[in-house]
Amino acid sequence: MTSPVITPLGYAAGASVAGADLRRPLEEDAMKTITSAWHKHLMLVFPDQRLSPKELIDFTSQFGQVERNDNVPYYRHPEHPEVLLISNKTTNGKPSQTRNTGRNWHADLTYTDRPAKGSVLMCQEKPEVGGDTMFANLYMAYETLSPTIRKFIDTLEAVHDITLIKGFSRRDPEQIKEMTRLNPPIAHPVVPVHPETGKKLLFISERIRNFVGMTEEESKPLLDFLNGHATSPEFVYRHRWSVNDVIMWDNRATLHIALPDFDQSQSRHMLRCSLLGEHSGYVIDNETSEISMKSALAAIS
Ligand code: SIN
Repeated sequence: MTSPVITPLGYAAGASVAGADLRRPLEEDAMKTITSAWHKHLMLVFPDQRLSPKELIDFTSQFGQVERNDNVPYYRHPEHPEVLLISNKTTNGKPSQTRNTGRNWHADLTYTDRPAKGSVLMCQEKPEVGGDTMFANLYMAYETLSPTIRKFIDTLEAVHDITLIKGFSRRDPEQIKEMTRLNPPIAHPVVPVHPETGKKLLFISERIRNFVGMTEEESKPLLDFLNGHATSPEFVYRHRWSVNDVIMWDNRATLHIALPDFDQSQSRHMLRCSLLGEHSGYVIDNETSEISMKSALAAIS
């Protein structure tokens, strides 16, 4: 079998992979080529793949353990808990709870103690135009910061909070309650070292409430700056979908956002599998997460 051909799509991220049939197990050489392209380009597009949910799981499982989505148990495929349905289609007469999924810059599952290592997303239906997904390169984000700010953030931890998913409060109240219970605020390092590439990156997100040991007021200007910096246009690749595209991103080194830039009366229907990541977080309570204004005032009086 010939080796897959990798063609870069963007400077910051993105490459397309030709010559791979994802319905079959990858041969050793193809696996090596794809894995190294995944680490280099951070986001890969495999055009024109027609995978069943089971085939999507099988493809994903070649790169690690596939998530069962137990932290967000409401949006799973009825027969395959590993497959999350991201769709604006009506089911049982009700609008889908995932119709606005991914509307702020984030990495998947950072509100758990094991953020996804990677995610694989397949497009089954798309609007005539739009419904794009953008990806930001978090190595570039870190490397372009000044030495002084890098030194300041190198040892920081950030509190990731599921309730900061955009539009979360408009979801089903019972589901909100349960998902908040399943996913208490969790702290992750702001500058982790990528386990495969050994490079530092800026692990920021719009789903962070504050930095550990800092108040929300203190954290906000820095958070706003870092989020704005990480998603600067020069660090971003924008994917315009075709039906049957399968894409795979390195969730440890990118942020992504799903844009609502389309006619909402048209269907957008995606299937997502994620790879279980390494333990990198710990549950945090409000006491330790934030220095309260009261104790800050007491410290200076
Ligand atoms: C996601 O945030 O994982 C979904 C992205 C998309 O639907 O484009």
